[in-house]
Amino acid sequence: MLWKITQNVLTTIGILYTGIHWGLACVPGALLVLYVFEITSSSILLYRAGLIGISFGLGYVMWMLATILLTSVLGFIFKPSMAPARVAFLSMTSIRWGFLSCLDRLAKPCVHHIVPSWITDFYYRAMGCKIGKGTFVISDRINDPYMVTIGSDSIIGSKAIITAHLAEKDNLVLSPVIIGDNCLIGLGAQINPGCVIGDGAVIASRAIVPKYTNVPAGETWAGIPAKQIKKKK
Ligand SMILES: CC(C)(COP(=O)(O)OP(=O)(O)OC[C@H]1O[C@@H](n2cnc3c(N)ncnc32)[C@H](O)[C@@H]1OP(=O)(O)O)[C@@H](O)C(=O)NCCC(=O)NCCS
Repeated sequence: MLWKITQNVLTTIGILYTGIHWGLACVPGALLVLYVFEITSSSILLYRAGLIGISFGLGYVMWMLATILLTSVLGFIFKPSMAPARVAFLSMTSIRWGFLSCLDRLAKPCVHHIVPSWITDFYYRAMGCKIGKGTFVISDRINDPYMVTIGSDSIIGSKAIITAHLAEKDNLVLSPVIIGDNCLIGLGAQINPGCVIGDGAVIASRAIVPKYTNVPAGETWAGIPAKQIKKKK
């Protein structure tokens, strides 16, 4: 009972903080819009509407960038990390994981619009994700980035879910995901906790790789659950 109350109180604080976080990130865009309102007060209507419209658009982009930057700063401060675990939902470990997930969620709506870019790579790295050189992360769905390692020259396809956690009945499972060099994780594929994807492996679009699966280097896996469809050449 006490755990449940604690969880509800923390969730409510988290939701309220989201408003403050996003609100603070609005400041640069709001300043721009207010400035344009002021300098165009005596302009002709269409010209004014055009400039104000652009300032809203730029203000939105500024909000996304400021949200990502602000969340990255929190990432650098809190240095997210979790050890592998299988724990009850109502436990200190799951509360800590929940806190880190809320932190990540502050930026995710903005990451969605900006991937792939150096900005989202910067964000993922600030949240503890290890990303090698030449890798394209096109997905906005790297959950638990602090438990994900991606090698060099790999592609993480659009909408691919890389998750180091799974909720299972009464337990929360946490285990790192390791993706090697030169891998291709197809569009909408799902890589579950504890998976190791070997160098040069390909995971087909929409495949689901079950937890703790070891995909050997150079192989192609597809389907639900994913199975090998091509051996190493
Ligand atoms: C898996 C994949 C690499 C296979 O491509 P390929 O080497 O050209 O092979 P083919 O298209 O000839 O398919 C080989 C077999 O795999 C099957 N297959 C292909 N894609 C599949 C998928 N997503 N799920 C299940 N089976 C699949 C084919 O039906 C075929 O089966 P068959 O031999 O029984 O006829 C490709 O289909 C794929 O999913 N690429 C991911 C691309 C992507 O999402 N990039 C990121 C973009 S954001």
